[in-house]
Amino acid sequence: MTGEFHVLSGLEAVSHKAASVFIKLSESSIASKGRFSVALSGGSTPGRLYAFLGSEYRDNIQWDSVDFFWGDERCVSKEHEQSNFKSAYDALLSKVSANIHRVKGELGPERAAIEYENDIRMHFRLKSGLPVFDLIVLGMGEDGHTASLFPGSESLKETERLAVPVYDVEIPRVTLTLPVLNNASHLLFLVAGRSKAEVLRHIFENEDKRYDYPAGLISPVHGDVTWLIDKDAATGIKGGSGAL
Ligand code: 6PG
Repeated sequence: MTGEFHVLSGLEAVSHKAASVFIKLSESSIASKGRFSVALSGGSTPGRLYAFLGSEYRDNIQWDSVDFFWGDERCVSKEHEQSNFKSAYDALLSKVSANIHRVKGELGPERAAIEYENDIRMHFRLKSGLPVFDLIVLGMGEDGHTASLFPGSESLKETERLAVPVYDVEIPRVTLTLPVLNNASHLLFLVAGRSKAEVLRHIFENEDKRYDYPAGLISPVHGDVTWLIDKDAATGIKGGSGAL
């Protein structure tokens, strides 16, 4: 795995740095392939990034060459307050003209997962094998989950499907699977807040415990991973920023 981690002063700094990474990757991907495929994360942490991309950084990106996907989604309508689509739409997608590949959570977990996988395969022209997303934005829960891959979940063992239903949660969800996440060209973690410090310490400082956490299982096969961490979340990590 190649990558780097940056410890930044707070969520604003994390979000500005994330926006610059997004812009750089979109420019190189569009210059080389004419497209930029990105899967967004849910949760609260990336909200400022999405707001920045839809406002002060909006003119830095060729939105009509961007294809938006999601790392995971809750099985609710797209208007529901828990919808990851809605969060991104309100902050960003309503302000730009990009291509949107929404997880149709309203279909229920199994059908939504199947339809989403079909959409991904169509987009990447894949009969089999794994898509290569140019960028996947990820958060991390206090238990070390990422996307909707939770500690101990059966979905962590999935090696064939691109997207699977998740039932052992309050609201059923759909998530991309670990092989898809680890096949991305770039993975970008945004982690902020003291509540994440303990798990981050294990992931960064304790080889034995790292793999107990889904976020610790993120190890891109071909690409690289960048962790953007605020100082509160980084209290247990030695050193400021560095290579992984
Ligand atoms: C989701 C996210 C999930 C999130 C973490 C962290 O749909 O909820 O994909 O993996 O990134 O739960 O959430 P916060 O950013 O709110 O701490």
